[in-house]
Amino acid sequence: MTEPLISVRDLTVRFDTYAGVVHALNGISFDIYPGEIFGLVGETGCGKSVTGLSLLRLVPPPGEICGGRILFHGQDLLTKNEAEMRDIRGGRIAMIFQDPSAALNPVFTIGEQIELIIRQHHPVSREQARRRAVETLHAVGMPEPERILTTYPHQLSGGMQQRAMIAMALSSGAELLIADEPTTALDVTIQAQILDLLTHLKQTQGIAILLITHDLGVVAETCDRVAVLYAGLIVETGPTASVFQAIKHPYTQGLLAAIPRPGSHGQQLQSIPGTVPSGLNPLPGCPFHPRCGFAMDVCRQHRPDLLPTDQAHWVACHLYSDSPLPNLGEGVGVRAT
Ligand SMILES: Nc1ncnc2c1ncn2[C@@H]1O[C@H](COP(=O)(O)OP(=O)(O)O)[C@@H](O)[C@H]1O
Ligand code: SF4
Ligand SMILES: [Mg+2]
Repeated sequence: MTEPLISVRDLTVRFDTYAGVVHALNGISFDIYPGEIFGLVGETGCGKSVTGLSLLRLVPPPGEICGGRILFHGQDLLTKNEAEMRDIRGGRIAMIFQDPSAALNPVFTIGEQIELIIRQHHPVSREQARRRAVETLHAVGMPEPERILTTYPHQLSGGMQQRAMIAMALSSGAELLIADEPTTALDVTIQAQILDLLTHLKQTQGIAILLITHDLGVVAETCDRVAVLYAGLIVETGPTASVFQAIKHPYTQGLLAAIPRPGSHGQQLQSIPGTVPSGLNPLPGCPFHPRCGFAMDVCRQHRPDLLPTDQAHWVACHLYSDSPLPNLGEGVGVRAT
């Protein structure tokens, strides 16, 4: 059995703001294995970016990781010192964002930036670094890699800039790539090309990818396993194939209904009514209950545990809980196990 590359356990993150304490992550746990794409999906404000940043210990103040463990090759990143973390960031774990132009340095060419990363991580000459940079640009599907080396970021399209960012992650020898909405700013065709590239790199280089997206359609096409995040909690998780065979959580069903379908141009998508909670003053019970069409009395009082339903498919919802439900009023009939 392969060991996980990274194991997140009970990760808890809060932001102590003037308005009050924002509960951004409320104890989430998941594993990512070498050579897989693990999808983290949910609406804006659910805690996806905070999760990605936590893995690199880059949660901005006033945010703070206040509980849990992040085991990378079995070692807790939360116990590493700053120098050790600097080696890991941009080295063994790399991160790319929605806007690659903000992450690329505008005053250096793409070649200079990639060669610098190669030389930081490998004892090679300038010429060898240049050759490796060409190979890496080729590996990420850049046309004319030799010419791309001499270009500045602003001379490239958004899709090409994102490919350059992925090339940098590969040059550093990253084992885990955290990709936070890497295709959200790109048009649909380019989006598909970047997702194909991530799948290709997983297969050819064995890199593990944490793919953060608000789009369940992207998960269906790209991810091996998925975790659905709501209000800083994982509400449904499992292998993508099993989850999509029978989506169980009412929130995930809502995300599914919001996926644009071919031929539905201009049609109003079915969005989930209500809004994501702010994380200030979390409600008791299931965090989704104010928006859930199936909410029962128990949902307003007791938070459902994340429990296995079948195989590796886990759901946090009282509709699927086997244990006797306390304090049930009317509406028990909708229980579906
Ligand atoms: N700098 C910050 N200050 C206060 N709250 C923040 C900050 N960054 C994120 N949060 C809060 O943490 C929660 C999760 O945010 P985030 O991870 O960015 O969501 P997502 O990426 O899923 O859209 C939200 O409630 C958000 O308001
Ligand atoms: S626990 Fe209750 S409120 Fe929450 S998703 Fe399930 S049915 Fe809806
Ligand atoms: Mg985000």
